[in-house]
Amino acid sequence: MRNAILTVFWLVFAVMPAITLAQSIVIKFPHDLAPTTPKGQGADYFKRIVEERLPDRVSVEIYPSGSLINDQASLEALAFGEIQMIAISLSKLDRLTKRFQVFDLPFLFADMAQVEAFQGGSVGQELLSELEGRGLLGLAYWHNGTKQLTAGTPLRVPEDAEGLEFRIMDSDVLLEQILAIGGNPQKMPFTEVYQALQMGAVDAQENTWSNIEASKFYEVQEFITLTDHGYIGYFVAVNPDFWRGLPADVRSVLDEALAETTEFVNSTAREINAEARATVLASGRNTLIELSTEEREQWRGAMRPVWDKFSGDIGPELLEAAGGSVH
Ligand code: LMR
Repeated sequence: MRNAILTVFWLVFAVMPAITLAQSIVIKFPHDLAPTTPKGQGADYFKRIVEERLPDRVSVEIYPSGSLINDQASLEALAFGEIQMIAISLSKLDRLTKRFQVFDLPFLFADMAQVEAFQGGSVGQELLSELEGRGLLGLAYWHNGTKQLTAGTPLRVPEDAEGLEFRIMDSDVLLEQILAIGGNPQKMPFTEVYQALQMGAVDAQENTWSNIEASKFYEVQEFITLTDHGYIGYFVAVNPDFWRGLPADVRSVLDEALAETTEFVNSTAREINAEARATVLASGRNTLIELSTEEREQWRGAMRPVWDKFSGDIGPELLEAAGGSVH
């Protein structure tokens, strides 16, 4: 009798949880932003619908705000299978391939329709598998929005940027872009930016309204110049071995959930950025600098030489597909 009780005890407490654990697939999905941003909301949305549709089979662990790992380190962690999913700024793929540099060319995209035509077209879709051999299989593009310049001093014309320290993402195109306007670029992980701005280690930076608001950059940067000079979007990627090793039925539910999430993110990002802009302006802390057509042309002209430096590496096919040849 005692043995029978022990056997039942052993089955219930030792073997059953192991079986459940064996069936449960964990997707670790760290990112660098607050949950309120387009990426943060997308990650949470994906988790919710996946766990609803695959209860006890898949759990999605979201680590926002760089709480597990920063963006730079996440590229390697994904390739080594330490995490399973990322949504990283396209700019930060620069050190792995030159081809993604197209996304950083200043003033390339006139609007989101142009971005979407490129990403959804055959060349943009082929780019998703460009890094598969490096352990990063792209599955989707998510939008954030267009970049504005922020600084502690007013930036109305490119000469105003002369000598200022600018934080930039890990991208050589962005580095040249800041040099072209006379600034000193500093590559820095997103998670360090607020403090660098607050301490005065850097004077200025470029980002979307949702990032400026969610990470409180507006509290430490008085001036915001509406330039819309570049795009921030994300490469949503998985570890290829992990993904291909999933049971087919699980993977098809995940594919569907990701497609729905992409639709959700890309249809709400504009509104999230508009709300963030309203929140920032309502704080009364900032001076918004709206450019005249002539002033905007000055920024475009000053940054234009960057194209000549990178268009050779990017290649005419990509530039053409992104609409680069029309500018
Ligand atoms: C940045 O580092 O400024 C942005 O890429 C952060 C993000 O993920 O949007």
